[in-house]
Amino acid sequence: MKVLSVVGARPQFIKAFPVSRALADAGHEEVLVHTGQHYDEEMSDVFFEELGIPEPAYNLGVGSDGHVQQTARMMTGLADLVEEEEPDCLLVYGDTNSTLAGALVAVQTNRGLVHVEAGLRSGNRDMPEETNRILTDHVSDVLCAPTAEAVRNLEAEGLEERTVNTGDVMYDAALWARDQAREHSDVLDRLELDDGGYVLATVHRAANTDDPARLEAILEGLASVDEPVVLPAHPRTKSRLEEYDLWDLATEYLRVVEPVGYLDFVRLLDGADRVATDSGGVQKEAFFLRTPCVTLREETEWVETVEAGGNVLVGADTEAIEAALARTDWSYGGGEPYGDGNAAAAVADSLSRL
Ligand code: UD1
Ligand code: UDP
Repeated sequence: MKVLSVVGARPQFIKAFPVSRALADAGHEEVLVHTGQHYDEEMSDVFFEELGIPEPAYNLGVGSDGHVQQTARMMTGLADLVEEEEPDCLLVYGDTNSTLAGALVAVQTNRGLVHVEAGLRSGNRDMPEETNRILTDHVSDVLCAPTAEAVRNLEAEGLEERTVNTGDVMYDAALWARDQAREHSDVLDRLELDDGGYVLATVHRAANTDDPARLEAILEGLASVDEPVVLPAHPRTKSRLEEYDLWDLATEYLRVVEPVGYLDFVRLLDGADRVATDSGGVQKEAFFLRTPCVTLREETEWVETVEAGGNVLVGADTEAIEAALARTDWSYGGGEPYGDGNAAAAVADSLSRL
Protein backbone atom coordinates (compact mmCIF):
# COMPACT_ATOMS: atom_id res chain seq x y z
CA MET A 1 0.00 0.00 0.00
CA LYS A 2 1.27 3.52 -0.70
CA VAL A 3 1.06 5.63 2.45
CA LEU A 4 1.51 9.40 2.58
CA SER A 5 2.52 10.19 6.18
CA VAL A 6 2.17 13.73 7.41
CA VAL A 7 4.41 15.15 10.16
CA GLY A 8 5.19 18.73 11.12
CA ALA A 9 5.73 19.23 14.84
CA ARG A 10 8.45 17.90 17.17
CA PRO A 11 6.47 15.06 18.81
CA GLN A 12 5.37 13.81 15.40
CA PHE A 13 8.95 13.21 14.25
CA ILE A 14 9.42 11.03 17.32
CA LYS A 15 6.16 9.13 16.75
CA ALA A 16 7.03 8.62 13.07
CA PHE A 17 10.36 7.04 13.94
CA PRO A 18 9.07 3.58 14.99
CA VAL A 19 6.10 3.70 12.61
CA SER A 20 8.16 4.45 9.47
CA ARG A 21 10.32 1.43 10.24
CA ALA A 22 7.30 -0.79 10.85
CA LEU A 23 5.64 0.33 7.60
CA ALA A 24 8.80 -0.55 5.67
CA ASP A 25 9.07 -3.91 7.46
CA ALA A 26 5.47 -4.68 6.50
CA GLY A 27 6.23 -3.93 2.84
CA HIS A 28 4.34 -0.66 2.55
CA GLU A 29 5.66 2.23 0.47
CA GLU A 30 5.84 5.42 2.55
CA VAL A 31 6.08 9.00 1.31
CA LEU A 32 6.98 11.11 4.34
CA VAL A 33 5.81 14.72 4.15
CA HIS A 34 6.97 17.44 6.57
CA THR A 35 4.57 20.37 6.63
CA GLY A 36 7.24 22.72 7.99
CA GLN A 37 5.15 23.67 11.05
CA HIS A 38 8.36 23.34 13.12
CA TYR A 39 11.49 24.45 11.31
CA ASP A 40 14.27 25.48 13.73
CA GLU A 41 17.21 23.10 13.65
CA GLU A 42 16.60 22.01 17.27
CA MET A 43 12.83 21.63 16.73
CA SER A 44 13.12 19.58 13.53
CA ASP A 45 16.38 18.56 11.79
CA VAL A 46 17.97 17.23 14.96
CA PHE A 47 15.35 14.47 15.21
CA PHE A 48 15.81 13.25 11.65
CA GLU A 49 19.58 13.17 12.13
CA GLU A 50 19.67 11.31 15.45
CA LEU A 51 16.78 8.93 14.83
CA GLY A 52 17.98 7.96 11.37
CA ILE A 53 14.52 8.56 9.86
CA PRO A 54 14.81 9.08 6.10
CA GLU A 55 14.66 12.76 5.20
CA PRO A 56 11.08 13.72 4.35
CA ALA A 57 10.42 13.37 0.61
CA TYR A 58 8.77 16.80 0.73
CA ASN A 59 8.84 19.78 3.05
CA LEU A 60 5.95 22.18 2.52
CA GLY A 61 7.74 24.93 4.45
CA VAL A 62 4.55 26.47 5.87
CA GLY A 63 6.28 28.00 8.93
CA SER A 64 4.49 29.80 11.75
CA ASP A 65 1.24 31.72 11.35
CA GLY A 66 -2.31 31.92 12.68
CA HIS A 67 -4.14 28.59 12.89
CA VAL A 68 -6.29 29.30 9.83
CA GLN A 69 -3.49 30.51 7.57
CA GLN A 70 -1.11 27.76 8.67
CA THR A 71 -3.66 24.97 8.24
CA ALA A 72 -4.85 26.34 4.88
CA ARG A 73 -1.31 26.45 3.49
CA MET A 74 -0.69 22.89 4.64
CA MET A 75 -3.89 21.73 2.98
CA THR A 76 -3.06 23.32 -0.36
CA GLY A 77 0.42 21.80 -0.36
CA LEU A 78 -0.84 18.37 0.70
CA ALA A 79 -3.59 18.36 -1.91
CA ASP A 80 -0.99 18.96 -4.66
CA LEU A 81 1.10 16.10 -3.32
CA VAL A 82 -1.86 13.72 -3.19
CA GLU A 83 -2.51 14.49 -6.85
CA GLU A 84 1.13 13.90 -7.72
CA GLU A 85 1.83 10.83 -5.55
CA GLU A 86 -1.60 9.14 -5.68
CA PRO A 87 -1.30 7.43 -2.26
CA ASP A 88 -3.83 4.85 -1.11
CA CYS A 89 -4.08 6.53 2.26
CA LEU A 90 -2.78 9.33 4.45
CA LEU A 91 -1.46 8.66 7.94
CA VAL A 92 -1.51 11.40 10.56
CA TYR A 93 -0.27 11.63 14.16
CA GLY A 94 -1.66 13.24 17.28
CA ASP A 95 -3.48 16.56 17.41
CA THR A 96 -1.57 19.42 15.82
CA ASN A 97 -2.58 21.64 12.92
CA SER A 98 -0.50 19.33 10.69
CA THR A 99 -2.76 16.45 11.82
CA LEU A 100 -5.97 18.29 10.97
CA ALA A 101 -4.66 19.47 7.59
CA GLY A 102 -3.73 15.91 6.61
CA ALA A 103 -7.09 14.58 7.79
CA LEU A 104 -9.18 17.08 5.86
CA VAL A 105 -7.14 16.58 2.68
CA ALA A 106 -7.53 12.79 2.92
CA VAL A 107 -11.30 13.14 3.11
CA GLN A 108 -11.56 15.75 0.41
CA THR A 109 -9.42 13.73 -2.01
CA ASN A 110 -11.17 10.43 -1.25
CA ARG A 111 -8.17 8.68 0.25
CA GLY A 112 -8.12 6.42 3.26
CA LEU A 113 -7.14 8.02 6.56
CA VAL A 114 -5.28 6.42 9.47
CA HIS A 115 -5.04 8.34 12.75
CA VAL A 116 -2.26 7.33 15.11
CA GLU A 117 -2.92 8.36 18.71
CA ALA A 118 -6.68 8.45 18.21
CA GLY A 119 -9.27 8.79 20.96
CA LEU A 120 -7.48 11.14 23.33
CA ARG A 121 -9.75 13.66 25.03
CA SER A 122 -8.97 16.37 27.55
CA GLY A 123 -12.55 17.64 27.71
CA ASN A 124 -11.18 21.16 27.24
CA ARG A 125 -12.56 22.56 24.00
CA ASP A 126 -10.55 25.78 24.41
CA MET A 127 -7.42 23.87 23.40
CA PRO A 128 -6.87 23.87 19.63
CA GLU A 129 -5.54 20.33 20.01
CA GLU A 130 -8.89 19.06 21.35
CA THR A 131 -10.71 20.30 18.25
CA ASN A 132 -7.99 18.89 15.99
CA ARG A 133 -8.24 15.44 17.53
CA ILE A 134 -12.03 15.25 17.60
CA LEU A 135 -12.36 16.34 13.97
CA THR A 136 -9.57 14.00 12.86
CA ASP A 137 -11.05 11.01 14.68
CA HIS A 138 -14.47 11.53 13.15
CA VAL A 139 -13.20 11.53 9.55
CA SER A 140 -10.65 8.71 9.95
CA ASP A 141 -11.12 5.22 8.53
CA VAL A 142 -8.73 3.56 10.96
CA LEU A 143 -8.36 4.81 14.52
CA CYS A 144 -5.19 3.58 16.21
CA ALA A 145 -5.95 4.07 19.89
CA PRO A 146 -2.96 3.95 22.26
CA THR A 147 -4.84 2.98 25.43
CA ALA A 148 -8.03 1.30 26.70
CA GLU A 149 -9.22 4.75 27.83
CA ALA A 150 -8.85 6.07 24.26
CA VAL A 151 -10.87 3.09 23.00
CA ARG A 152 -13.62 3.93 25.51
CA ASN A 153 -13.65 7.56 24.38
CA LEU A 154 -14.07 6.47 20.75
CA GLU A 155 -16.81 3.99 21.69
CA ALA A 156 -18.66 6.76 23.50
CA GLU A 157 -18.65 8.75 20.25
CA GLY A 158 -19.90 5.80 18.18
CA LEU A 159 -16.56 5.12 16.48
CA GLU A 160 -15.84 1.61 17.81
CA GLU A 161 -16.00 -0.15 14.45
CA ARG A 162 -13.07 1.83 13.10
CA THR A 163 -11.01 1.51 16.30
CA VAL A 164 -8.08 -0.75 17.08
CA ASN A 165 -6.07 -0.68 20.32
CA THR A 166 -2.51 -0.67 19.00
CA GLY A 167 -0.70 0.52 22.13
CA ASP A 168 1.32 3.71 22.14
CA VAL A 169 4.04 4.25 19.54
CA MET A 170 5.77 6.68 21.94
CA TYR A 171 6.34 3.76 24.28
CA ASP A 172 8.12 1.90 21.47
CA ALA A 173 10.29 4.97 20.84
CA ALA A 174 11.02 5.61 24.52
CA LEU A 175 12.12 2.03 25.26
CA TRP A 176 14.69 2.29 22.49
CA ALA A 177 15.74 5.82 23.45
CA ARG A 178 16.19 5.07 27.16
CA ASP A 179 18.93 2.52 26.51
CA GLN A 180 20.55 4.55 23.72
CA ALA A 181 20.51 7.68 25.84
CA ARG A 182 22.07 6.00 28.89
CA GLU A 183 24.90 4.79 26.66
CA HIS A 184 25.45 7.72 24.31
CA SER A 185 24.11 10.99 25.73
CA ASP A 186 26.55 13.27 27.54
CA VAL A 187 23.92 15.91 28.29
CA LEU A 188 24.31 15.65 32.08
CA ASP A 189 28.03 16.40 31.78
CA ARG A 190 27.43 19.22 29.30
CA LEU A 191 24.89 20.87 31.59
CA GLU A 192 26.89 19.99 34.72
CA LEU A 193 23.99 18.14 36.33
CA ASP A 194 24.18 15.24 38.79
CA ASP A 195 22.07 12.17 38.10
CA GLY A 196 19.00 12.44 40.36
CA GLY A 197 19.95 15.93 41.54
CA TYR A 198 17.85 18.31 39.44
CA VAL A 199 14.34 19.08 38.24
CA LEU A 200 13.50 19.13 34.52
CA ALA A 201 10.81 21.51 33.26
CA THR A 202 9.08 22.15 29.93
CA VAL A 203 6.34 24.69 29.20
CA HIS A 204 4.86 25.36 25.76
CA ARG A 205 1.04 25.17 25.87
CA ALA A 206 -0.63 28.30 24.54
CA ALA A 207 -2.77 28.50 27.70
CA ASN A 208 0.40 28.82 29.81
CA THR A 209 2.78 30.73 27.55
CA ASP A 210 0.32 33.29 26.23
CA ASP A 211 -1.00 34.32 29.64
CA PRO A 212 1.60 36.38 31.54
CA ALA A 213 -0.02 35.70 34.93
CA ARG A 214 0.04 31.93 34.43
CA LEU A 215 3.57 31.97 33.05
CA GLU A 216 4.82 34.01 35.99
CA ALA A 217 3.01 31.78 38.51
CA ILE A 218 4.67 28.71 36.97
CA LEU A 219 8.11 30.34 37.13
CA GLU A 220 7.53 31.22 40.79
CA GLY A 221 6.57 27.62 41.55
CA LEU A 222 9.68 26.28 39.82
CA ALA A 223 11.86 28.88 41.51
CA SER A 224 10.91 27.42 44.91
CA VAL A 225 12.95 24.27 44.27
CA ASP A 226 16.29 23.81 46.08
CA GLU A 227 17.86 21.77 43.30
CA PRO A 228 18.87 23.14 39.90
CA VAL A 229 15.88 23.41 37.54
CA VAL A 230 16.69 22.98 33.85
CA LEU A 231 14.21 24.34 31.30
CA PRO A 232 14.83 23.51 27.64
CA ALA A 233 12.71 26.36 26.30
CA HIS A 234 10.39 25.90 23.33
CA PRO A 235 10.83 28.89 20.97
CA ARG A 236 7.30 30.01 21.78
CA THR A 237 8.13 30.13 25.50
CA LYS A 238 11.39 31.95 24.94
CA SER A 239 9.71 34.68 22.94
CA ARG A 240 6.89 35.09 25.50
CA LEU A 241 9.37 35.31 28.41
CA GLU A 242 11.04 38.17 26.58
CA GLU A 243 7.78 39.82 25.55
CA TYR A 244 6.34 39.74 29.10
CA ASP A 245 9.59 40.86 30.77
CA LEU A 246 9.89 37.52 32.55
CA TRP A 247 13.25 36.58 31.07
CA ASP A 248 15.26 37.88 34.04
CA LEU A 249 13.03 36.07 36.55
CA ALA A 250 13.33 32.85 34.55
CA THR A 251 17.10 32.97 34.15
CA GLU A 252 17.75 34.05 37.74
CA TYR A 253 16.24 30.87 39.15
CA LEU A 254 16.22 28.41 36.27
CA ARG A 255 18.77 27.06 33.83
CA VAL A 256 17.07 28.09 30.59
CA VAL A 257 18.63 26.24 27.67
CA GLU A 258 17.76 25.67 23.99
CA PRO A 259 15.51 22.68 23.21
CA VAL A 260 17.58 19.50 23.17
CA GLY A 261 17.48 16.45 20.90
CA TYR A 262 15.38 13.40 21.78
CA LEU A 263 18.14 11.24 23.25
CA ASP A 264 19.41 14.11 25.37
CA PHE A 265 15.85 14.86 26.49
CA VAL A 266 15.18 11.25 27.44
CA ARG A 267 18.48 11.20 29.36
CA LEU A 268 17.52 14.41 31.16
CA LEU A 269 14.12 12.96 32.03
CA ASP A 270 15.59 9.63 33.12
CA GLY A 271 18.08 11.35 35.45
CA ALA A 272 15.69 13.97 36.84
CA ASP A 273 14.47 13.92 40.42
CA ARG A 274 11.12 15.33 39.17
CA VAL A 275 9.72 16.79 35.98
CA ALA A 276 7.27 19.70 35.73
CA THR A 277 5.63 19.94 32.32
CA ASP A 278 2.57 20.87 30.29
CA SER A 279 3.59 18.57 27.45
CA GLY A 280 1.49 15.56 26.51
CA GLY A 281 4.41 13.42 25.40
CA VAL A 282 6.60 14.27 28.37
CA GLN A 283 3.91 13.17 30.87
CA LYS A 284 3.93 9.74 29.29
CA GLU A 285 7.69 9.49 28.96
CA ALA A 286 8.01 10.42 32.64
CA PHE A 287 5.66 7.52 33.43
CA PHE A 288 7.66 5.11 31.23
CA LEU A 289 10.87 6.15 32.98
CA ARG A 290 9.29 6.30 36.45
CA THR A 291 10.20 9.95 36.97
CA PRO A 292 7.57 11.72 39.15
CA CYS A 293 5.62 14.18 37.02
CA VAL A 294 3.97 17.46 38.03
CA THR A 295 1.66 18.55 35.23
CA LEU A 296 1.16 22.27 34.71
CA ARG A 297 -2.39 21.87 33.42
CA GLU A 298 -5.86 21.45 34.91
CA GLU A 299 -6.63 18.29 32.92
CA THR A 300 -4.82 15.59 31.00
CA GLU A 301 -5.53 13.18 28.18
CA TRP A 302 -3.11 10.70 29.77
CA VAL A 303 -5.32 9.83 32.73
CA GLU A 304 -3.58 6.48 33.35
CA THR A 305 -0.48 8.30 34.62
CA VAL A 306 -2.54 10.19 37.23
CA GLU A 307 -4.63 7.15 38.23
CA ALA A 308 -1.47 5.12 38.81
CA GLY A 309 -0.08 7.84 41.10
CA GLY A 310 2.93 8.91 38.99
CA ASN A 311 1.52 12.24 37.80
CA VAL A 312 -0.32 15.06 39.53
CA LEU A 313 -2.26 17.92 37.93
CA VAL A 314 -1.51 21.31 39.45
CA GLY A 315 -2.32 23.87 36.76
CA ALA A 316 -0.44 27.16 37.05
CA ASP A 317 -0.85 27.52 40.82
CA THR A 318 2.46 28.49 42.46
CA GLU A 319 1.75 26.85 45.84
CA ALA A 320 0.36 23.68 44.28
CA ILE A 321 3.46 23.39 42.06
CA GLU A 322 5.71 23.86 45.08
CA ALA A 323 3.80 21.29 47.15
CA ALA A 324 3.66 18.73 44.36
CA LEU A 325 7.38 18.99 43.64
CA ALA A 326 8.05 18.30 47.33
CA ARG A 327 5.89 15.15 47.42
CA THR A 328 7.53 11.77 47.93
CA ASP A 329 4.52 9.42 47.54
CA TRP A 330 4.61 8.42 43.87
CA SER A 331 3.42 5.11 42.46
CA TYR A 332 3.07 3.48 39.07
CA GLY A 333 0.41 0.79 39.37
CA GLY A 334 0.82 -2.79 38.26
CA GLY A 335 0.01 -2.96 34.56
CA GLU A 336 1.42 -1.29 31.50
CA PRO A 337 -1.39 0.81 30.03
CA TYR A 338 0.58 1.86 26.95
CA GLY A 339 1.05 -1.55 25.34
CA ASP A 340 4.00 -3.90 25.01
CA GLY A 341 6.40 -1.75 22.99
CA ASN A 342 5.19 -3.15 19.66
CA ALA A 343 2.59 -0.52 18.84
CA ALA A 344 4.22 0.55 15.58
CA ALA A 345 3.89 -2.96 14.14
CA ALA A 346 0.22 -2.95 15.17
CA VAL A 347 -0.25 0.38 13.37
CA ALA A 348 1.29 -1.11 10.20
CA ASP A 349 -1.02 -4.15 10.55
CA SER A 350 -4.05 -1.89 10.98
CA LEU A 351 -3.72 -0.72 7.38
CA SER A 352 -5.33 -4.02 6.35
CA ARG A 353 -8.60 -2.59 7.73
CA LEU A 354 -8.73 0.06 4.98
C1 UD1 B 1 2.41 22.85 18.32
C2 UD1 B 1 1.07 22.14 18.46
C3 UD1 B 1 0.98 21.54 19.86
C4 UD1 B 1 2.18 20.67 20.15
C5 UD1 B 1 3.47 21.42 19.90
C6 UD1 B 1 4.64 20.50 20.04
C7 UD1 B 1 -0.80 23.12 17.20
C8 UD1 B 1 -2.02 23.96 17.29
N1 UD1 B 1 -0.05 23.09 18.31
O1 UD1 B 1 2.42 23.91 19.26
O2 UD1 B 1 -0.18 20.73 19.94
O3 UD1 B 1 2.12 20.26 21.49
O4 UD1 B 1 3.46 21.94 18.56
O5 UD1 B 1 5.82 21.18 20.31
O6 UD1 B 1 -0.54 22.53 16.18
N2 UD1 B 1 8.36 28.53 16.63
C9 UD1 B 1 9.65 28.80 16.26
N3 UD1 B 1 10.37 27.82 15.62
C10 UD1 B 1 9.84 26.60 15.32
C11 UD1 B 1 8.51 26.34 15.69
C12 UD1 B 1 7.78 27.31 16.34
O7 UD1 B 1 10.18 29.88 16.51
O8 UD1 B 1 10.55 25.75 14.74
C13 UD1 B 1 7.60 29.58 17.37
C14 UD1 B 1 6.87 30.56 16.46
O9 UD1 B 1 6.92 31.81 17.06
C15 UD1 B 1 5.45 30.05 16.49
C16 UD1 B 1 5.34 29.46 17.89
O10 UD1 B 1 6.62 28.93 18.17
O11 UD1 B 1 4.51 31.05 16.25
C17 UD1 B 1 4.30 28.37 18.01
O12 UD1 B 1 4.53 27.33 17.06
P1 UD1 B 1 3.29 26.45 16.54
O13 UD1 B 1 3.79 25.33 15.69
O14 UD1 B 1 2.23 27.31 15.98
O15 UD1 B 1 2.69 25.87 17.86
P2 UD1 B 1 3.40 25.13 19.07
O16 UD1 B 1 3.24 25.96 20.29
O17 UD1 B 1 4.76 24.69 18.68
N1 UDP C 1 11.46 16.77 23.54
C1 UDP C 1 12.74 16.87 23.03
N2 UDP C 1 13.50 17.96 23.38
C2 UDP C 1 13.04 18.94 24.20
C3 UDP C 1 11.72 18.83 24.71
C4 UDP C 1 10.95 17.74 24.36
O1 UDP C 1 13.18 15.99 22.28
O2 UDP C 1 13.78 19.90 24.47
C5 UDP C 1 10.62 15.63 23.13
C6 UDP C 1 10.07 14.82 24.28
O3 UDP C 1 10.94 13.76 24.60
C7 UDP C 1 8.75 14.31 23.72
C8 UDP C 1 8.34 15.35 22.73
O4 UDP C 1 9.50 16.15 22.47
O5 UDP C 1 8.94 13.08 23.02
C9 UDP C 1 7.25 16.20 23.30
O6 UDP C 1 7.02 17.30 22.48
P1 UDP C 1 6.25 18.58 22.96
O7 UDP C 1 6.31 18.68 24.44
O8 UDP C 1 6.79 19.70 22.17
O9 UDP C 1 4.77 18.31 22.44
P2 UDP C 1 3.49 17.54 23.00
O10 UDP C 1 3.87 16.14 23.32
O11 UDP C 1 2.99 18.30 24.18
O12 UDP C 1 2.53 17.63 21.87
